[in-house]
Amino acid sequence: LAADDPDFMGREIAEQPETVERILSELAPRVSTGDLWRELGLPHFRRVAVLGCGTSLNAGRIIAHAFGAFGAIVNTAVTASEAGAVVLDAETLVIAASQSGETADVLRALDELQTGRGRVLALTNSMHSTLARRADGVLNCSAGPEIGVAATKTFVAQVVTGVCLALSAMVARGTILRAQADAIVDDLRRTPDRLENAIAVSRQWVPDIVESVRDAQGFLFLGRGAGVVYAAEGALKLKELTYRWAEHYPAGELKHGPLALVEEGTPVVVIESADGRLSANVAEVRSRGGRVISIGGPGSSIPVVDGHPEAFARSGRVSQGRGGNTFAACGPLESVVPMQILARELAIALGRDVDKPRNLAKSVTVE
Ligand code: F6R
Repeated sequence: LAADDPDFMGREIAEQPETVERILSELAPRVSTGDLWRELGLPHFRRVAVLGCGTSLNAGRIIAHAFGAFGAIVNTAVTASEAGAVVLDAETLVIAASQSGETADVLRALDELQTGRGRVLALTNSMHSTLARRADGVLNCSAGPEIGVAATKTFVAQVVTGVCLALSAMVARGTILRAQADAIVDDLRRTPDRLENAIAVSRQWVPDIVESVRDAQGFLFLGRGAGVVYAAEGALKLKELTYRWAEHYPAGELKHGPLALVEEGTPVVVIESADGRLSANVAEVRSRGGRVISIGGPGSSIPVVDGHPEAFARSGRVSQGRGGNTFAACGPLESVVPMQILARELAIALGRDVDKPRNLAKSVTVE
């Protein structure tokens, strides 16, 4: 595949399917038994707060959402550098998500938050990190070494590991049936294929898109529902690698302000979803001359989600039996792949160093 990419980032993007495959072969047998959660030895909790920065915070948002969707657990994602103002009660499970486990903002947040006894779980790619030593329980996201400064495979690894954790915890407390959990795990097992497909399709489609947006100075990323977090991650990758401005929004917010940014040729990346309102939002962009780059769905620029949105609506969605809520375990996880590849290829076209973007470091040990 891209094992011959000259940069680490290209190789790390290509490694995502096998990374998820490995994680699932390790975790899946312990998810629908509840053992993954039980083995951590953490106390019963009523609420969940997931803490992190940057890409880890985006992964954290998806993980927090999973606790809500699988078990109606009240959940929040906390920006670590702003944790000082956050009030938690003593029965909140705090999940600190940090690839490096050395991020100063995360460590400081643990000092500032009044966490209950024994309630901090580290989700990290570094089992020997400061965070792992500080936490009461540690879950390895097992992505293997990531050298490129921009997080790619560690993001996917955090999402899948965190969603497995949420599912396992809900089985252990009896909130979700084992059969339901099995169905979700079966769907998760399709993730490597979906990522592989997304890589293949993106390699085919993204080069032309890069040509058409090369001179654009600003980008918008839109999604609805679970797609919003992926829009955030796509915008973050584009900013850090290309040094172009990129903003993300829930698509419904467009008409409340950001639509003013759209002019002839403005690139607007849209993560398709089964939510019918999205097409009205996209029509607003098109009628102002915006260059819509849609991900997933029939006729989209990058049709990565197989048969999406219908397949998305079918696959991985599990009735929770609570107000009819449904949730695809990780949301449109594979949508991140074309955005990673778009950011990388545009950065290369602009002469940027994709492994070492300016002003950034792999491990951020200052506040
Ligand atoms: C973005 C990126 C950063 C990190 C952030 C947190 O690609 O890499 O946003 O995600 O600095 O780092 P960790 O996960 O090490 O706490």
